[in-house]
Amino acid sequence: MAVVLLHLVILMKLFMLSCGEFQRFDEKIKSDGSLSIFVVGDWGRNGNYNQSQVATQMGKIGEELGIDFVISTGDNFYEDGLQGVYDNQFQQSFTDIYTAKSLQKQWYSVLGNHDYRGDVLAQLSPILQKFDSKWFCMRSFIVNTENVDFFFVDTTPFERKYWTHPKDHHYDWRNVEPRDQYIENLLKDLDLALKESRAPWKFVVGHHTMRSVSDHGDTQELLQELLPTLKANDVDLYINGHDHCLEHISSRDSPIQYFTSGGGSKAWRGKFTPNADKLRFFYDGQGFMSMKITSTSVDLVFYDIFGTNLYQWSMNKQLLTVM
Ligand SMILES: *[C@@H]1O[C@H](CO)[C@@H](O)[C@H](O)[C@H]1NC(C)=O
Repeated sequence: MAVVLLHLVILMKLFMLSCGEFQRFDEKIKSDGSLSIFVVGDWGRNGNYNQSQVATQMGKIGEELGIDFVISTGDNFYEDGLQGVYDNQFQQSFTDIYTAKSLQKQWYSVLGNHDYRGDVLAQLSPILQKFDSKWFCMRSFIVNTENVDFFFVDTTPFERKYWTHPKDHHYDWRNVEPRDQYIENLLKDLDLALKESRAPWKFVVGHHTMRSVSDHGDTQELLQELLPTLKANDVDLYINGHDHCLEHISSRDSPIQYFTSGGGSKAWRGKFTPNADKLRFFYDGQGFMSMKITSTSVDLVFYDIFGTNLYQWSMNKQLLTVM
């Protein structure tokens, strides 16, 4: 009996290794073949800094668009994540803010650097889903839909200065350190998952910027270590927060488009440093982004706190028919 059990355990371990570490979740598209989502980042400030105004507009526009789910690009709770699963901030900055009926959908969230300054295991705990069932947060995972596969990547461990120069902050590296091994496994799993993807579109979501003209600017570690995997696997978009603005930048040497949606509360007005890629849109106030995705098209809109459509952008691709 014990021997059989042991074999089972080994078989399961092998199975899990060969499938990579990323867990997968399925979301259905609408009967008309489309999927509508919101992307918002850098928000949890008890409603302050226009967080509540952004939430109100998300509620209204979410109703019009029929949002299927929401993506949070991280820095979910300021300044230092959650202090535990019973931290009131969860209710005050999330449950009590995003109250509109249209927003009671799954919120797929990644962790930001500010989340890593608190109790990360609390933010990842299923107990939070008992308090508010729309909450969902993991380090790296995949959401599969018929039109697009979303690859959520834990980007905080990439940035070396959090490890070497944490200043007076403490980063919760439990289950992460050592850095290099963690990154190596993550990239291997991501590469495998991207290669297996059969969806018409492949979008990668992380907290940190790859390309940005705002306060933080480009993240060199992501350009050097993560971007090659995205380029090698024909990823269409990289979506992030971290810089508290809304922006669209096109890569000059690949088809990849970079979208920052980090305007969920406090904004960094007046910060601007150009980079080498092509800046198409930049707004240094608060807001959020919607995406409507079919198997052949993506329509993207940025909104401000008044619900004004600030910018829109579309891309199309021919479906390749497999003979
Ligand atoms: C809220 O948004 C308005 C409109 O963009 C802006 O004028 C105001 O400064 C913002 N408030 C804060 C606290 O950022």
